[in-house]
Amino acid sequence: MTMSEMMEGRGAKLLARTPRHVAIIMDGNGRWAAKRMLPRFEGHRRGVEALRRTVRAAGDLGIAYLTLYSFSSENWSRPKPEVDDLMGLLKRFVRNDLAELHAGNVRVRIIGEREGLDAEVAGLLAEAEDLTRANTGLTLVVAFNYGSRQEIAAAARRLAQAVAEGRLQAAEITPERLSASLDTADIPDPDLVIRTSGEQRLSNFLLWQAAYAEFVFLPILWPDFDRSVLEAALAEYAGRERRFGGLEAGRTRQGTHG
Ligand code: FPP
Repeated sequence: MTMSEMMEGRGAKLLARTPRHVAIIMDGNGRWAAKRMLPRFEGHRRGVEALRRTVRAAGDLGIAYLTLYSFSSENWSRPKPEVDDLMGLLKRFVRNDLAELHAGNVRVRIIGEREGLDAEVAGLLAEAEDLTRANTGLTLVVAFNYGSRQEIAAAARRLAQAVAEGRLQAAEITPERLSASLDTADIPDPDLVIRTSGEQRLSNFLLWQAAYAEFVFLPILWPDFDRSVLEAALAEYAGRERRFGGLEAGRTRQGTHG
């Protein structure tokens, strides 16, 4: 078999190597703190340190896109002091780390709903994107005030509006066009989704984009995440066979969903 046939996966196992896009559900800050009789805030503060380590490691390991679920649309239902803590940590993160991210050639992208955010938070997110827009290294996608169903509904509304105004035919609404209407329009789909803390669910994160992602669920709590844990997740991914709905090597009949 030629290399190009292998790259196309024709008749061969499409073995995953380094994922181009890794998305992480950073879970377990509260439990990390509770185990140590510390306030939840301390768990979140240590969570930001883990986030910083992970961004550095991802760049070093040749990952092109790293998406981090930093604040979900549903996180507003937490007690106000905790929401304020998370907003404060985001502000501090941008203020303290933006210069270093920029110097490291990291391009920051924000996905999620901007409307309704505190003006200072919205301003800092815009500043991070604007400053780093032309960078060519790791793309750090921060999912903030993000919910996948909200994102898909917003895309459907925009397409419906285009149809209502006669700019688009209903028959032209394809998966590709819907993808191009999401916040992630120019970002490739995640190859690997990691969730820490032992929970095994997506929690309204990249529901559309993760259609063919591999999932790795880790028992460790997010503040304990580091380069070695990321490397272990990448090693597990590298051993997975991705089929994208096709057949595994050597199989000639259907009966799997890939
Ligand atoms: C989950 O822990 C974590 C989050 C709420 C999101 C991730 C937040 C951070 C890493 C810190 C904030 C950083 C920024 C940049 C906003 P949990 O509280 O759900 O943990 P638990 O399930 O153990 O209670």
